[in-house]
Amino acid sequence: MPYGASETRYSNMTYKRTGHSGLKLPLISLGLWYNFGGLDPFENGRAMARRAFDMGITHFDLANNYGPPPGSAEETFGQLMKKDFHPYRDELIISTKAGYDMWPGPYGEWGSRKYLLASLDQSLKRMGLEYVDIFYSHRPDPETPMEETMSALDSAVRQGKALYVGISSYSPEQTQEASQILRQMGTPCLIHQPSYNMFDRWVENGLLDVLDQEGIGAIAFSPLAQGQLTDRYLNGIPSGARATKTERVWLTPADVHRNIEKIQKLNSLAEQRGQKLSQMAIAWVLRKPQVTSALIGASSVAQLNDNLAALNNLSFSQEELNQIDTILMS
Ligand SMILES: NC(=O)c1ccc[n+]([C@@H]2O[C@H](COP(=O)([O-])OP(=O)(O)OC[C@H]3O[C@@H](n4cnc5c(N)ncnc54)[C@H](OP(=O)(O)O)[C@@H]3O)[C@@H](O)[C@H]2O)c1
Repeated sequence: MPYGASETRYSNMTYKRTGHSGLKLPLISLGLWYNFGGLDPFENGRAMARRAFDMGITHFDLANNYGPPPGSAEETFGQLMKKDFHPYRDELIISTKAGYDMWPGPYGEWGSRKYLLASLDQSLKRMGLEYVDIFYSHRPDPETPMEETMSALDSAVRQGKALYVGISSYSPEQTQEASQILRQMGTPCLIHQPSYNMFDRWVENGLLDVLDQEGIGAIAFSPLAQGQLTDRYLNGIPSGARATKTERVWLTPADVHRNIEKIQKLNSLAEQRGQKLSQMAIAWVLRKPQVTSALIGASSVAQLNDNLAALNNLSFSQEELNQIDTILMS
């Protein structure tokens, strides 16, 4: 069936300004780290991407290495652009990143100019795009001078291959330095992409303050702690769930076992709020004014729908926030 986007796609989503920039992002964005690779069923990814855009999710987040195999999520997205989203390019914010291991040899990872600009060219080819909306340095490089990495981001914009630039997983100090260099170059840092969820609160120790000072937005990745902050693991570890996937070990059964008591308590609190745990977890990251968007993943349209319903209740009483803190510290 040829795709035509829903006429009502802008009726229910809220768009928030990213830092001090002119760019607004949807409160919920969709990431293609998992479930869009070469080994995943194309039609499932396609159904999720279509549903996302139909519900006002204008932002799709990728990276050079997403798959597996690395690069294949960008290829899948290229197919989606060609088959479904081509007429809507100007309604979409598409991001990609370079930083992790992508090809053999000394120029296939980290933060050199050589790697970043070659990688961006490869990403554009795989996605069939002339430009991305946001190009990120995926991780700080302890060896390459910060000026070099930032000047590569600045060049990507000047070459017309990216509209904005961002950084991911940079510490507060590194973020401040990167931001100052980029501002001097005339390409302000639009956005920082850190992990942030109830089990991983590092951004609260300085990063959010730096983002405030520098006028940079934040897009919180893994707001569901890779599925732990949902009902996915309440009754054990189901086959096919992320914690069972052995080709990548970012979430293990041991992680789930360690957190399960807290997950159960948080789930009860979400029920008292009339929400699912996944919805409370998304609302919780969005409570911070610096957080522009919650960057979720999903493995089915049903999960995506659940997560979109988070927007129905984004507010917390102080009592509820205290209860969450107490559970997390228990
Ligand atoms: N910058 C970086 O270094 C970095 C690192 C990681 C991620 N990211 C970005 O962040 C995006 C999101 O990361 P993430 O996938 O870890 O996010 P997440 O939203 O924390 O986890 C998504 C996973 O949770 C489960 N899930 C989602 N909704 C659910 C629901 N309603 N009910 C039950 N289970 C549900 C699914 O796992 P199952 O497969 O078990 O169903 C889904 O794949 C990535 O795609 C990527 O774009 C960036």
